[in-house]
Amino acid sequence: MQEEQDVELEARLEDRERFEPPESFVEQANVSDESIYEAFDEEWPECWEQAADLLDWDEEYETVLDDSNPPFYEWFTGGELNASANCLDRHLEDRGDEAAIEWVGEPTDEENRTYTYEQLHREVNEFAAALRDMGVGEDDVVTMYMPMVPELPIAMLACARIGAPHSVVFAGFSADALATRMNAADSEYLVTCDGYYRRGDPLEHKAKADEGLEGVEHEVSDVVVVDRLGDTYDHPMAETHHDYGDLVADHEGAEVEPVARDAEDMLFLMYTSGTTGQPKGVKHTTGGYLAWTAWTSQAVLDIKPEDTYFCSADIGWITGHSYIVYGPLALGTTTMMYEGTPDHPERDRLWEIIEEYEATQLYTAPTAIRAFMKWGTEFPDKHDLSSLRLLGTVGEPINPRAWKWYYKHIGDESCPIIDTWWQTETGGMMVTTLPGVKDMKPGSAGPPLPGLDVQVINPSGEEVEAGQAGHLTVQKPWPGMLRTLYNNDERYIEEYWAEYSDTDSDDPEDWVYFPEDGAKIDEDGYITVLGRVDDVLNVSGHRLGTMEIESAIVGVEGVAEAAVVGGNHEVKGEAVYTYVITEDGYEGDDEMRDRIVEGVEDAIGPIARPEAVVFTPELPKTRSGKIMRRLLEDIANGDELGNTSTLRNPDIVSEIEAKVSDD
Ligand code: WTA
Repeated sequence: MQEEQDVELEARLEDRERFEPPESFVEQANVSDESIYEAFDEEWPECWEQAADLLDWDEEYETVLDDSNPPFYEWFTGGELNASANCLDRHLEDRGDEAAIEWVGEPTDEENRTYTYEQLHREVNEFAAALRDMGVGEDDVVTMYMPMVPELPIAMLACARIGAPHSVVFAGFSADALATRMNAADSEYLVTCDGYYRRGDPLEHKAKADEGLEGVEHEVSDVVVVDRLGDTYDHPMAETHHDYGDLVADHEGAEVEPVARDAEDMLFLMYTSGTTGQPKGVKHTTGGYLAWTAWTSQAVLDIKPEDTYFCSADIGWITGHSYIVYGPLALGTTTMMYEGTPDHPERDRLWEIIEEYEATQLYTAPTAIRAFMKWGTEFPDKHDLSSLRLLGTVGEPINPRAWKWYYKHIGDESCPIIDTWWQTETGGMMVTTLPGVKDMKPGSAGPPLPGLDVQVINPSGEEVEAGQAGHLTVQKPWPGMLRTLYNNDERYIEEYWAEYSDTDSDDPEDWVYFPEDGAKIDEDGYITVLGRVDDVLNVSGHRLGTMEIESAIVGVEGVAEAAVVGGNHEVKGEAVYTYVITEDGYEGDDEMRDRIVEGVEDAIGPIARPEAVVFTPELPKTRSGKIMRRLLEDIANGDELGNTSTLRNPDIVSEIEAKVSDD
């Protein structure tokens, strides 16, 4: 039945490579005039005043862009504003009684909570007052290690209110990963929770946080613990540990004047994976970032205040920061938060939520869409999804088949799909169609947004011809860009600029941002992103560094050497494949395999769990001793092997291949 439907769908949609935006959408779209592209080119960089105008400024900015010291660009310089005031206070008059956050919890609907703007404002103020009393000052980094509970965005906004940058660590990361990030940011404060629900069962979290705290090298002044599970677990609370509920109650009715922050002051840090074992602390600022997320939320997600907008990402990643919290709240809309997974209690959970709340947009990831496809159309078919007006995806390429499935079975062929390419570092969307303007081409993200100079170039820095592949680059700065890597300007230049820039020049024309993605461009300027060209994997839309995983494996007793590559995976996109050489005296047996998997989970978290552990006496290496990852990828994918003639040890390849097919 399912297959028949797919065949029918494919037959009808298969040959279509181009989809016009639905008329009904265009008529009401926030942006529907094509002239914006030309206008932004002509008026660059002043065009970005349009983004800044979406915000309330305490002090007007003097200059749109200061590019005198590339690549340390500054936007809206001289301006002052507060992100929490922009997301809350200014909406109170018109939207005080409207929902700011609709939170859908697990395991029962009884717990669902609605926070009106008024209520959210109140609790943010109370918690901001508590943080301040605790001694948190401007520019003190507060770490949050929390799942999808409302107290997470509340804590973020409370920090923003008093000018303390936050650093949110995804709750699925391990204790070690928490410690690494708190150490790197010199963060003395932590907000966490006792636990949360996963597929109906309580999951302990505070013990993991405590374990992480043991690995923090400096003194941690205070730890705030949100009570999510009541008495499920008995937690020891040290003297410096405080109950969130008590703190808020103690500060009932408190009002905290939002601190006017310089446009270039740090709003938050977000650690992301790079090619070394050490995660990168991406720094985002108050003015440029907030303007960027607000503008893209309006122009691309088409958010209007009366919408009920649903992004199914986790706030622990950049997508949740930009498009659950800051962008939507800056526009005064209703943003949804879902605590659980899409398959619990049934595989129709998201569709049930969309129907119940009459959600107007859904922004999700290709990995989720592939899972929905696998589960079948019976689940969305059970629900009325006609409230949806726009669909979006982010995090990895979406193949045309999944795109068409999403278009047909979720959008009923009447919602535009935005396939948005961007990164933690870009702060917000960069390459995607404006849904009320541009035709869509399944599989291709689209043209760059107006005002962005994105080019696909070859190794000598020239633009490639239509149909050819090259490196994706951004040739001009944009307001939402990262400003540096925390405390590491040198690495910032090295990682993102050195490849294609003249690093001695102070002419911005000589500076090119390289996001480490490969891409193709077509005759209409549509960009198809092909994936990372560095050693970073994309597992279920999550970014993982192969080096981070390798160093975790090498840390396991009995491991001499390890290589990690990505192999294709039907649902996850990429899966972690590991090749391991054991030390003399150690067997590559099941016990060893378990210890390796555990080692990776301890160092990073279950998201990095290896799909396969292959023991091998050697790794394929070039004569100069470099591991040939390409070959290991080919083996993982069961592909025909690339060139092996430059190998020092060509025989090892067939030996490894034989082992993989045995497993
Ligand atoms: C990949 C997530 C293809 C890309 C917002 C990028 C994509 C990395 C897309 C950033 C897309 C993101 N099509 N690839 N629409 N969106 N990527 O920092 O490789 O977690 O560099 O940010 O995800 O991942 P990050």
